[in-house]
Amino acid sequence: MAPSSNLPSFQRASEAASFLKERLPEILKAPRVAIVCGSGLGGLASTLHELPRVEFDYASIPYFPKLTVAGHAGKLVFGLLNGQVPAVLMVGRAHYYEGHSVDDVTFPVRVFKLLGIDSMILTNAAGGLNPDYMVGDVVLINDHIFLAGLAGIHPLRGPNSEEFGLRFPPLSDAYDLELRRHVHQAWNRVIGTDKSKLHEGVYAFVGGPSYETRAECRMLRQLGADLVGMSTVPEIVVARHCGIRVLALSLVTNKAVFAPIPRGDAHILQGKSMTELDAMLQEGKANHEEVLEAGRSAATNMQKLIVQTVANIFNPSS
Ligand code: HPA
Repeated sequence: MAPSSNLPSFQRASEAASFLKERLPEILKAPRVAIVCGSGLGGLASTLHELPRVEFDYASIPYFPKLTVAGHAGKLVFGLLNGQVPAVLMVGRAHYYEGHSVDDVTFPVRVFKLLGIDSMILTNAAGGLNPDYMVGDVVLINDHIFLAGLAGIHPLRGPNSEEFGLRFPPLSDAYDLELRRHVHQAWNRVIGTDKSKLHEGVYAFVGGPSYETRAECRMLRQLGADLVGMSTVPEIVVARHCGIRVLALSLVTNKAVFAPIPRGDAHILQGKSMTELDAMLQEGKANHEEVLEAGRSAATNMQKLIVQTVANIFNPSS
């Protein structure tokens, strides 16, 4: 689980970055982009060319958090995306709900900074709160609501790491506009059809691991969120603190349920059997298997989109 150490994060991250650099061939020592693959999106690693490619289990890297959740492998994969752009992929990430601190969840971002990364792409599976979103849709995140952060469960709490950034980093334009323009261009090039459209929206971070109640979904929607999920935001905050430009993409794996739960004496329940009542309550209920399955089937679109986006950003002529 969480690696405990009292060393400042700069020292820990420096040690992890040196560990990786010593084991990487010259061409992969200075990756241009880091990509965090969310639930079911690890297939992106297969788009990296075979040679050169170097993989590290998180467990082997100093201070890296160890994962505990089913469906999330834990490895760092270095390789050339499109055969050209040196990249590092995180296949599986640590979540706060596993018991990791927000400091540990965001530790890899600081290691990336010390490897020289200046752009990051984060992906995740999320619940759709915006009624226009369908399961399988892709949403480019353009803002977030970090309720836990506002309440003080925040990765930058404590003495500021001056080596990484300012005490009070602004987040009003956290999701890079220029990079988002590249994603729209990439979408039009490799996916755009009349039927599917690339959404943009606001992501609300929740601690998990339980999925939200109906009342919580209504509250988050009223607060202005389009998506809800259990990751990404802490990493975004730490990336922005150290000046990394970020893109974040959600795959909608389930739609939130808003309809209030019926009263026990509601008219519509009259004469219904327990089986019928159960079936009614199953409608729209989120479950982890469904989230993984939706991730698997829509993942190829997301992969194509990311590969083309990276090409647009780093090799504009391709
Ligand atoms: N809520 C929170 N996290 C999620 C969801 C959800 O509905 N779907 C996928 N991750």
